[in-house]
Amino acid sequence: MKVLSVVGARPQFVKLAPVAAAFAEADIEHVIVHTGQHYDALMSEAFFDDLSIPDPDVHLGVGSGSHGAQTGSMLAALEPVLDKHQPDWTLVYGDTNSTLAGTLAAVKLHLRVAHLEAGLRSFNRRMPEEHNRVLTDHAADLLLAPTKVAMDHLADEGLARRALLVGDVMTDVCYLVRDAVAGREPLLPDGVDADRPYVLATIHRADNTDDPARLEAVAKALAGIPVPVLLLAHPRLRARAAQHGIDLGSGSVTVADPLPYPALVRSVLGATGVVTDSGGLQKEAFLLGIPCTTVRTETEWTETLDDGWNVLAADLTGLGELATRPAPSTPRGHPYGDGRAAQRVVTALIG
Ligand code: UD1
Repeated sequence: MKVLSVVGARPQFVKLAPVAAAFAEADIEHVIVHTGQHYDALMSEAFFDDLSIPDPDVHLGVGSGSHGAQTGSMLAALEPVLDKHQPDWTLVYGDTNSTLAGTLAAVKLHLRVAHLEAGLRSFNRRMPEEHNRVLTDHAADLLLAPTKVAMDHLADEGLARRALLVGDVMTDVCYLVRDAVAGREPLLPDGVDADRPYVLATIHRADNTDDPARLEAVAKALAGIPVPVLLLAHPRLRARAAQHGIDLGSGSVTVADPLPYPALVRSVLGATGVVTDSGGLQKEAFLLGIPCTTVRTETEWTETLDDGWNVLAADLTGLGELATRPAPSTPRGHPYGDGRAAQRVVTALIG
């Protein structure tokens, strides 16, 4: 059996890691196509190196652009690659523009598509990712869902017959990396001390970065958190802040580059709290037992909200208090599976 994976953005590399390992173990021929949506070394190569992912077989080098230009370039570049390889399955991951392009290119060539992380919904139509998810789920042939809630969304949209609950592959990799970094010291920049409480923050969603007034409010709220804040700045955040003359590093905040995955996990483990608008990081904080505050009006990972492990704080009110709140005393359960989702993906694709 031959599977062709289409990836392009940072969280997709994390998801690819356990899947590629499971394919290798099962002797499945695996072609990895990198669209080039993310291209900075810290956003791309670092993940392939640290998570032992084989180098991409094909790199499309598409790069950044408006949604239409970026997705369109990927579509055009993917078509001949898919046509040449004729995979038994095209596997697409998550909700980025690379996901949608991979799906559309494959289904139009009558190639079967499996969507990993199917069924997540924010119900926020301002998010480009929401359209990517919905369109991908409705076009794909096999919907590999991470959670029961995702299965329910697929059923509500009439897609239950194509859906299968496999668990969350990010949980597989998060647990493996957590165990690998246990005992290591977090590598923190000056201004953040591993022996004292600190908050780890990331902000990259268009709704938080692209309107200068909103970005300024977010930067101010982070600056006012009463303990040091390590802000791992996505290139988009840095670019927008520079464009609008907003200082990201005022008050409590120390700005640093995005971290490689193992260093990120280690830094989360050492933090008092996480403040983010990333879907993946909300879940990683939950899995690692660190309270999270999400700077959005909703989350796709609703299980993280149970018992207050994750709290939504789009209006930024009381962010300082929220970000430094103690961890809940209640157990978290295992809504994201047992860390063996990738094996279930293999079984599902073999059929
Ligand atoms: C994309 C995904 C988002 C995901 C995120 C993870 C879409 C619509 N969004 O958002 O779901 O959570 O990846 O990080 O697909 N840039 C660089 N270097 C890079 C990559 C990006 O400088 O390697 C800058 C460019 O200015 C670019 C901007 O970041 O225009 C945004 O990148 P893009 O890939 O369009 O979206 P993300 O915000 O990264």
